Amino acid sequence: MASHPWFERLPKPIIIAHRGASLDAPENTIAAFELAAVQGAEAIELDVMVCATGEPVVIHDRKVDRTTNGKGEVGGLSLTDLKALDAGSWFDSQYAGERIPSLDDVFRQLRQDTVINIELKNDHAPLDGLPEAVAAVVRERGCQDRIWFSSFNPIALRKIRRLVPETPAGLLLIRGGWGRIIRMLAGWITRYDAVHPEYTDLTGDTVDAFQARGLPVFPYTINDPADLHRAVLMGVDGVITDDPIRAAGVIRSLADPSGPTDN
Ligand code: G3P
Ligand code: CA
Repeated sequence: MASHPWFERLPKPIIIAHRGASLDAPENTIAAFELAAVQGAEAIELDVMVCATGEPVVIHDRKVDRTTNGKGEVGGLSLTDLKALDAGSWFDSQYAGERIPSLDDVFRQLRQDTVINIELKNDHAPLDGLPEAVAAVVRERGCQDRIWFSSFNPIALRKIRRLVPETPAGLLLIRGGWGRIIRMLAGWITRYDAVHPEYTDLTGDTVDAFQARGLPVFPYTINDPADLHRAVLMGVDGVITDDPIRAAGVIRSLADPSGPTDN
């Protein structure tokens, strides 16, 4: 079965920087996204959730405590409150003053050809207004052709596929038996256009089986060279990694075994 035509434009395997170049810069910030491109990533992955005033903001945790100098739930803080926080100093003083970006900031501030995997992070509140808020920003900025969605939440995938039907959406899978059960349940709720499995769950056979169903495979989050090597040899469509430099080295060494080794 053919995959969604949107995926045909991507290099294979595509290097997707997880939360940006999050090994070397504070995750989910403009600095991390810009560094990802410098490090050889061909796409970035980011997490979005809605704040108290309804805008989609780019952050992984439900609370701001770990990645900023503030405290509290993202859903309880306004966009103005969130933008007042320092999202860089916790990582390194050289990033002091980095801000939590809104999704709109990302679309406006990054290069207009940046390919972005937007993870809808509302597993904790599956029926909140996140898909609607994200769809509104995507439509306003006209970014449908350079993004794809993903989520662990099949309800969010169902909604976003209806709101932005021209853009593909992948199902994120947790590892093990629960992952298989959730995938089965998700199949009753929505169709999806790709799978994003936890990488230790993958075998060559599962990759082949997904791809035979027209589902590109984008495992997360692979940083170890041996694991990257294994995933690329399995024929995955991309790797989600904190370390684009290492991923590029592994892909290069597999393409040209006689060249310098990067792993
Ligand atoms: O999109 C893959 C990966 O980001 C999912 O896990 O917790 O890092 O968002 P997490
Ligand atoms: Ca994520």
